[in-house]
Amino acid sequence: ESGALWGGRFASGPSPELQLLSKSTQFDWVLAHYDIRGSKAHAAALAAGGYLDDDELAGMHAALDELDARVADGRFVAADEDEDVHSALERGLIEIAGPALGGKLRAGRSRNDQIATLVRLYLLDHAAVIGGLLLDLAEAIRAQAAAHPTAILPGRTHLQHAQPVLLAHQLAAHAWPLIRDLERLRDWSARARRSPYGGGALAGSSLGLDPRLVAAELGLGDPLDNSIDGTAARDVVAEFAYIAAQVGIDLSRLSEEIILWNTKEFGFVRLHDGYSTGSSIMPQKKNPDIAELARGKSGRLIGNLTGLLATLKGLPLAYNRDLQEDKEPVFDSVQQLEVLLPAFTGMVATLSFDTDRMAALAPQGFSLATDVAEWLVKQGVAFRDAHEISGELVRFCEERGIELHEPSDAELASVSPHLAPAVREVLTIEGSVNSRTGAGGTAAVRVAEQLALLAARIAEF
Ligand code: ARG
Repeated sequence: ESGALWGGRFASGPSPELQLLSKSTQFDWVLAHYDIRGSKAHAAALAAGGYLDDDELAGMHAALDELDARVADGRFVAADEDEDVHSALERGLIEIAGPALGGKLRAGRSRNDQIATLVRLYLLDHAAVIGGLLLDLAEAIRAQAAAHPTAILPGRTHLQHAQPVLLAHQLAAHAWPLIRDLERLRDWSARARRSPYGGGALAGSSLGLDPRLVAAELGLGDPLDNSIDGTAARDVVAEFAYIAAQVGIDLSRLSEEIILWNTKEFGFVRLHDGYSTGSSIMPQKKNPDIAELARGKSGRLIGNLTGLLATLKGLPLAYNRDLQEDKEPVFDSVQQLEVLLPAFTGMVATLSFDTDRMAALAPQGFSLATDVAEWLVKQGVAFRDAHEISGELVRFCEERGIELHEPSDAELASVSPHLAPAVREVLTIEGSVNSRTGAGGTAAVRVAEQLALLAARIAEF
């Protein structure tokens, strides 16, 4: 007697090599509590179907509660011979309730519908946790933006100086993707909240059990409409892994900026001592390890997603044992984000910005050349010509090693008669920034509105 759930038709127990390969308790044990909740719900469905009387149901529930308590405090753990969490818990139930009662629970269900349900329950709970952590990060970014309402940053495209923007504008641009991630988690949760329980191995139950009862007990919506789909589909897991990967990517893009901003050459931010690390050899070092770990882990999160997609590709319906490979990647994605996000939020919340340095660098690199061109357009010059004239002014200044506001009136006129002295009104950073009043633009009035909108979105989740 190997204690396996399927000994009957086998003359011998599984070989040790197979046991080692097959075993999943080292990672599926995190589902133990969900498995027991599922079992309690299933017992209720069995009772409603007339397969357990009132005493048996009470005894089953008491035994499952006792088992849950023993799992929680470590008195019950998986044994080497247990194939998976389901097998182990059936063993545990029988130890407590005895084989006569404990042996009744498995009627009308399969590990296939069980596992498909449990992974949803686990991910739904962790979606809520991760959503809360994302919200904390979005709020930390918003607070930093709100604390720097007028600070200027050299805005970049291609990593080159492009146009000056408000620091608050740039920071908020990192918060909006997180709001979309929160929307994704919310949308995903609505889709995930369906129950495969009752689908059995693939074909459904012949015992007349009501899968709606189990679904309701588990806090899920309607059972899935197709028992084959319910037991075989894992798009719900892959979609979660995608959201986790996208969160990783969003953190990684902000990380990259923080890493650059924290260099001596940029010198835009200083990291709090509690959220940076030193070097074992170079005493002066203060490293942005949290940002680097976020950037590194984003690769791992993408790997978890792509590994899972590769597992699913080409799998015939219905359940195949390959599907056991869904759990480690997605559980890892959950664990990584739950460790990473709090540290990342702490780093962001405690960043200090050198706003003087950012403002001093903002006009460099001829970042106001577009303003010159647009000023010319307002004087009636066609944009095509205005672009040329502004470009010639850039070349004039570059050859002389000066910035755009530095040529004399006569020099401006020598570049183009259209370049009247009044052009100087747009050759200040504040003038440039505050002229960009279009919707979503970097003018202080627009950014203030945007931050109010962001606060409202954060409050919504
Ligand atoms: N450990 C399995 C998994 O994670 C549970 C389902 C096993 N079903 C089976 N027929 N072997 O997918």
